[in-house]
Order: sequence, then C-alpha cells, then structure tokens
Amino acid sequence: MSLVARLGERGAISAAFTSAIRLNSAAALRDRRRGHRGWAGAVNTDYDPLDRATAAQPFNAFRRLHQQGRVHYNPKRATWILCRNEDVRAALRDTDAVTSTEGVTRMRISAPVLVLSDGAEHARLRKQVQPGFSKGAMASWQKMTDELAKQLVSEVLAEPGCDVVRRLTIPMPMRMIAHILGVPDADVDKFRAWSEAGMHIVDFEASRHGVIRFGKAVASMAALQRYFMRQFSSGGLKGSDTVLGRLLTQADDGSLTDDQLFLIAVLLLIAGNETTTNLLGGMFDTLAHNPDQFEMIRENPDLIPMAVEEQLRITTPIQNLYRYTREDYRVGEVTIPSGSRVMLNFAAANRDPLVFDDPDQYRADRNPRSHIAFGYGAHMCIGAPLARMEAQAVLRELVKQACAIAPAGPTTWSANTSLRGPTHLPITLTPS
Ligand code: HEM
Repeated sequence: MSLVARLGERGAISAAFTSAIRLNSAAALRDRRRGHRGWAGAVNTDYDPLDRATAAQPFNAFRRLHQQGRVHYNPKRATWILCRNEDVRAALRDTDAVTSTEGVTRMRISAPVLVLSDGAEHARLRKQVQPGFSKGAMASWQKMTDELAKQLVSEVLAEPGCDVVRRLTIPMPMRMIAHILGVPDADVDKFRAWSEAGMHIVDFEASRHGVIRFGKAVASMAALQRYFMRQFSSGGLKGSDTVLGRLLTQADDGSLTDDQLFLIAVLLLIAGNETTTNLLGGMFDTLAHNPDQFEMIRENPDLIPMAVEEQLRITTPIQNLYRYTREDYRVGEVTIPSGSRVMLNFAAANRDPLVFDDPDQYRADRNPRSHIAFGYGAHMCIGAPLARMEAQAVLRELVKQACAIAPAGPTTWSANTSLRGPTHLPITLTPS
C-alpha cells in the first residue's frame, strides 16, 4: 500500500489532503524505463544521492561533479543533476519550465500545498502563511529564543562530553515551534514526543526498523491532529500572538478552516525542525573542529550573523530537492527533455568553486552572500528569519559562556539523502 494511502487509512492527515494527493505512477514508470537509455550532452555519472555512505559524506562526490561538467545524468536513478550555483538558481527561478507541482522529492506527487504549487496558486497559499513570520512576529519571539539558547548552552556546559544533539540541537527548534504555535507549557512534553515521532512520516525506510518507526509516526500524527482539534474547539492555539492566530487575523475572508490550520502547523513542524537541528549541529561540529574560527568569533562577536550564513553554506541542512520539467529545458549545451526528474543539488551549489574560493573551508568572515541553503526564488524559505534567529542566539551564548569547544568523540552524520546533519555529537565546552 502506498505511503499516502496508509496515511489516509489511519486518518492521520485530513481527508481533503489525502484525496487531493496524486501519485503519478505512469510518469514514474516512464522515468524508470528512460534510465536505461542514457543521453547525449550531459555527463553520465554514478554519483548516487541514494547511497547512504555518499549521503553521509558527499564532499568528494561534489568535487568530482564540479570537475566533470555542468549537467549530469544518473541512468540508474533516471535523474538529471544540476550542481552549479548559477544553474540551480536559474532552475529555481523558472517555475514555468521546472515545476514543483509534480513533487520536490524523488517521488512524483501532487497536492494542494504550498511547497507543491507554483504560479498563482502558490502565491495565494504563500500569502496565507507569510503573515505568521512578519517582522512583528520575529520581534515577539526574540526574548524566548535568547532565554532558551542561554538555558540550553548552560546545560551543555554543565555536562562535559554530553551529546549536544540530544541536549540542544533537537530541543531548541522543537521548543521554539511549540512556543510560536502557543502550545501551553503543561502540554509541551507530549507535543514534543508526538512531533518528534511524527516527523518520520516523511522519511519512510523499507526496513523492519523503518516500518515500525513509520507506524509510530502515523499514530503520533493522528494524536497530534486530535490534540489540535481539541485545542481549536476551545479557542486554543489561535491567540493573537500565535502563528495560526496571526494567519486567521490576516485571512479575514474566513478561508482558513481548522483542517487547513492543522496542515499549516504540520508543514511548519516538518519544514522547521530537522532543518534547524542540522544547522545547529553543523555549527557545533564546525566550531569544535576549527578552534581558530571560534576564537575569531569570540574576539569579534559582530561576526555572528556572517558566521551563521557561512555555516548555512557549509552545512546546507537541505542538501537537495527535486523538480520536474514541464518543457524541454536548456542548460548550457544540454537540453533536459520535458517530463524529466531534476535534482537541484543545493549542497554542491554552495561549494561551487566558480563562486566560492576554497569552498570546502569554513571561514567565519567570508560573507557568502550567494549561498542558497534557504533555496531561492518563489519558494525561498519562509522560516529563514526564525532559523537565523535561533542559530545566532546559540552562537552568542556560546561565545559568552565558553572559551573553547572540543569534540569528545566522533560525530555521526545522518544518511538521509536530502537532510544532512549530526545525529550524535559528543562535545565538551570549557567555561569562560
Ligand atoms: C536552517 C533551517 C532551514 C533550512 C535550511 C530551510 C530550507 C528551506 C528550503 C531550501 C526551502 C525551499 C524549498 C523549495 O525550493 O522547494 C524552504 C522552504 C520552506 N521553509 Fe524552510 N528551512 C529552514 C527552516 C525553516 C523553518 C524554521 C520554518 C518554519 C517554522 C520553515 C518553513 C518553510 C516553509 C513553509 C517553506 C515553503 C515555502 C514555499 O514553498 O513557498 N523553514 N526551506
């Protein structure tokens, strides 16, 4: 049974959503067949984004991609790959030719949601969500962000050798999202447990462990939906200082139903948690292995915003996303045929030697303005200001509270093909 059918069967996400989702299996089959033909023009590659070892440590592969050519094609995966910064940007800009409406992962899928829409429909859906992240909203979350960063950094400081992923990089974004949604303090623990387990609804793995985890994810999403609906019916989570409350105030035509509000909340949970966790984890790993850079930031804390941008570039928490071509699409000398699956390799584009000097090197004072870790164009990340605010707050606390960061063991990296970040990172902070 398909992932979407399973979701529908368990009632984990709204019926309106599941019935509107369309898996394009004919196109998927066509993709598979095409895979055995190969193409003139593009460089055929065995770079395989689905290989777990490559996903965990992809940097040699990126260097090879940049050396070998501009457009690559992996016949086994029936996937075209763009890795140059300029080419990924151009594809993100051209939403008529290179669309999100057939999916942004390897799975062809259509649904009436923000990330999977383009053009006027996308503009309409984006207008619904954008007010939740206004300047006013950001300003109102600053205090909570600073307090949380202070508390979590001091907890890491108090436990030398602890796993900073468990201690800080997972709880920080999760607690911020609970806060901005207005989840009452008494409910935060269960909200966290459901959200953490529920996140795995988007990364099904065909193994025993994967099936069990997926089952838990579906049950947790269902619990989360019941919780939201109970809260909504008593006016909860819709206060004027919450994200959903702000959206309701803006949508004065009554177009946002409770089902839609729940889907927006789930979108924020999925889009904002693991991504920010990966950014924060990447930051601890980088600073622990580059003590001179940490020292530079300590000596000049004005570098903090720039250091976070450089971290976004070097970590690139969403390593890649996919698009599908709606017409023949030309990149340099190569024409990617209409109906193709194209991987936009954000992580490789952020290490493009044509744009970044010595691209594999972290330099806190680089000011990497053309990084595309938050995407680019119409779909550029809505939550970017929140993610930046969290990372900057943690870095400010680090330079205040610690004079050194040292690894207390090897870092383990996730082997998910799209999201990449530390899953285990033992660390010791030396108090200032
Ligand atoms: C370091 C953390 C983050 C990274 C690296 C990141 C990255 C991205 C990227 C690359 C996109 C573009 C998707 C595309 O082109 O298809 C995106 C879109 C989006 N992000 Fe983020 N994100 C982060 C944090 C957040 C947070 C904290 C939130 C909200 C709480 C959020 C909400 C969204 C939403 C709603 C979209 C969809 C925008 C659209 O399709 O128009 N993100 N993000």
